[in-house]
Amino acid sequence: MAYADSLEPSRQLAEEAALLIRAATPEKPFVIGLATGSSPVPFYRELIRLHREEGLSFRHVVSFNLDEYHGLRRDHPESYHRFMHDQLFDHVDMVPGNIHIPDGTIRTEDVYEFCQEYERKIDAFGGIDLQILGIGRTGHIGFNEPGSALDSPTRMIALDRLTRRDAAADFLGESNVPRFAITMGVGTIMKARRVVLLAWGENKAEILAAAVEGQVTDTISASFLQLHGDATFIVDETAASCLTRNRCPWLVGPVHWSSGMMRKAVVWLARKIGKPVLKLVDEDYNENGMADVLAEHGGAYDVNIGVFNQLQHTITGWPGGKPGADDSHRPERALPLRKRVVVFSPEPQDAVVAMGGTLERLVEQGHEVTLICQTSGNLRVADMEARKFATILEDIASGSQPWPEQQSYARTIQGLLDEKGEFGVDPSPVRHLKGLILRGEARDAAEACGLAEGAIRFLDLPFYESGRYRRFHLRAEDIEATATVLAELRPHQIFATGDVAEPTSLQALCFRALREAWAREGNGEWAGHCRVWVYRGKERPLADHEIDMAVPLSPIQLERKLNAIRKFQSIRQDEWEAATLNQKNAANYDSLGMAEYEAIESFQRWPSAAPK
Ligand code: F6R
Repeated sequence: MAYADSLEPSRQLAEEAALLIRAATPEKPFVIGLATGSSPVPFYRELIRLHREEGLSFRHVVSFNLDEYHGLRRDHPESYHRFMHDQLFDHVDMVPGNIHIPDGTIRTEDVYEFCQEYERKIDAFGGIDLQILGIGRTGHIGFNEPGSALDSPTRMIALDRLTRRDAAADFLGESNVPRFAITMGVGTIMKARRVVLLAWGENKAEILAAAVEGQVTDTISASFLQLHGDATFIVDETAASCLTRNRCPWLVGPVHWSSGMMRKAVVWLARKIGKPVLKLVDEDYNENGMADVLAEHGGAYDVNIGVFNQLQHTITGWPGGKPGADDSHRPERALPLRKRVVVFSPEPQDAVVAMGGTLERLVEQGHEVTLICQTSGNLRVADMEARKFATILEDIASGSQPWPEQQSYARTIQGLLDEKGEFGVDPSPVRHLKGLILRGEARDAAEACGLAEGAIRFLDLPFYESGRYRRFHLRAEDIEATATVLAELRPHQIFATGDVAEPTSLQALCFRALREAWAREGNGEWAGHCRVWVYRGKERPLADHEIDMAVPLSPIQLERKLNAIRKFQSIRQDEWEAATLNQKNAANYDSLGMAEYEAIESFQRWPSAAPK
């Protein structure tokens, strides 16, 4: 089932669970299998609301969590033990003895026995009534990484590289992510009477399609759920976007051949059979389930030209509009000549990584560009960077003419770093310092993209300052701060990201702040003339047919962009990853029969004037 967002389906699922919870008794408790991660968070929030506002009691609920990192203390901020208490258990009336979470502190030699006992306990409670799952980008459920067998039991597993990379931000670096975890097996999950898998946002789209529509295989453990008698996948529209019915709707039934649908279908066809658009022939259409488009629009020749032109019109070296040019087929309007452009970057590096070349062009072409770093990004900065700064400061401050205040500041930072240890939560002076370090780098990066000193602003949205990844809550002050900046800058053009991101992610919350700020400020005269362009992160770049503006970069421009990205030293931004993505865009366009560029940055036009 696909929904517009994660809230309504999470509410409905909580209602379903609440019915079962209310029916539970001491003799026949309700046994629920729980997952951590972002996906179940809206479900947990709704359960908490039902407890607080509607008196739903959890006294007869028994829970079994899917998994836990091995080697983490229970109070480690990223342990699943801690996560479950923060996100659910501390806010409802669960009986502590009814909560079961694999113990990550257990010695390796005792793990086997522990896992057997975990299985025995589940059986002793009569098995799991409802198992909640998320899905990882490797297709894992629990931590059943590729290779997990259908009948695998609870056990210790080595985490996949991709899983560890996805957790890198939470652990402030991939090297800090544990290598092993204890997880319920696929077999354990399959024994649950009912299974519900939740998936939200663009990052899940491809793996979800493979799990639901692909072969049942142990390389994607979620695909085993196809064999379960009562498994439901509850997903939002963006997570569902790669399912055949959305990716190629013409293959599953009649479609309205709008120009957007034609572009999507023809690009798909060209890719599938490896031909440029203008070389497609009638047989290609007929043999690939697209005969009706020919019937409606004449032969392949006309369809090809139409789509070729659409693609051609997305390409522009003038992202802010080309002065004096006929703009009827250009992505941006020519007027006003000098636009006020606001580029929103959720963390300081995001915009430079995704659109550093476009930023440079906008500035070069005379637009008034403001780069807004929505959050400080301080959670990404490693301790080592803060320590380095504090040590240098201490050395300077302890010179022949000591600066006592600076000395004491440096020592405080060092002391706080020692105290919190490698995985501890950063106290606010440390976060503040890390934010300042990133600010300096962001200024350098902005300058490398040609922006003047005053053209970069730091909103430091409060939701970020008081949160951690996956645990952020947007607040009124965040929307207020965003609205104030919109009202002041009255942009003609906005660049932003996060529109289809996983809803609790930092990018999604930054976009929500923008959307809600727009709703407040959007009746200003400027809003009627403002165009919004979205860019995407590396997890799910825009597909070729989704690109409404393609800004080519020459080799020299790409090199300058990489140079700008390299300024983000404290967060070890991988500039080659960005280059590869941009080069891949260019290669894709080339293979469709467009001009051959070195690299392309891509944008999608927000469907209506207002971001909704
Ligand atoms: C968590 C778990 C994992 C996650 C999956 C998706 O207990 O078992 O399988 O469900 O990695 O994580 P999120 O929801 O954070 O995208």
